[in-house]
Amino acid sequence: MRNMLIIGATSAIAEATARRFAATGARFYLVGRHAERLAAIARDLEIRSGQPVASESLDLDQLDQHPGLLERADQALGGIDLALIAHGTLPDQNGCQQSVQKTLAAIHTNALSVISLTTLLANRFEQRGRGTLIAISSVAGDRGRQSNYVYGAAKGMISLLLQGLRNRLSSKGIQVITIKPGFVDTPMTAAFEKKGLLWAQPDQIAKGIVAAVERGRDEVYLPWFWRWIMLVIRHIPERLFKRLQL
Ligand SMILES: NC(=O)c1ccc[n+]([C@@H]2O[C@H](COP(=O)([O-])OP(=O)(O)OC[C@H]3O[C@@H](n4cnc5c(N)ncnc54)[C@H](OP(=O)(O)O)[C@@H]3O)[C@@H](O)[C@H]2O)c1
Repeated sequence: MRNMLIIGATSAIAEATARRFAATGARFYLVGRHAERLAAIARDLEIRSGQPVASESLDLDQLDQHPGLLERADQALGGIDLALIAHGTLPDQNGCQQSVQKTLAAIHTNALSVISLTTLLANRFEQRGRGTLIAISSVAGDRGRQSNYVYGAAKGMISLLLQGLRNRLSSKGIQVITIKPGFVDTPMTAAFEKKGLLWAQPDQIAKGIVAAVERGRDEVYLPWFWRWIMLVIRHIPERLFKRLQL
């Protein structure tokens, strides 16, 4: 049985992942900012797992609340075995270009709040000598593109931070997993036309996250083909890349 902390538990990807872990009898502490939605997810997971589910509603932009949140989750679960950080926003790139405030708000939610949580969780796991830390980054963090470089910069920041944490903690029995989804059909991408083979459903990503934990993976592109797409994209020379409308 795993004691799981799910941060950003109302996310479609997080909910699908929690459902899969619930089938293994996991116990949950859920965190999200919509109390009603959170309560509905908690009820569903209780039925699926046969275990009581605790939850708390919190705006994760409030970094000063993070230490207390982790303490409460730790107490409720009797120790966190696995933490999944899934919250995020997809900012309007044009809006960010015109507003430093919007840009910094997007960086705050997508990078700084994740950095705060991963730092605190990593130290807790290190002290305890075990734990699994998973955060959802994105393929968008692999290379800056004109259509979404503010979001991409935030995700790139957390991908690098997780890489460093993994380098620091792998010898201490702590698993740090970076999840890099491509296009996923969730409320975050509601405004997009979701046609074509590149789009995945949240449960496909959830299946990949569970497999990554079970197989002890470090960095996972989901679905798998994004590893090869991003390999190509990362290797396009900058001289050519800067001319592409991406
Ligand atoms: N969908 C994709 O194509 C895609 C691709 C790559 C990576 N990702 C990443 O996958 C993760 C999950 O996203 P998703 O696709 O499942 O989208 P989603 O269903 O829209 O989930 C995003 C979640 O983040 C929560 N959130 C945002 N800001 C928050 C804050 N300040 N405090 C608390 N919760 C906050 C939202 O809560 P509210 O509902 O209350 O706003 C929502 O539950 C995100 O990190 C996203 O960047 C998604």
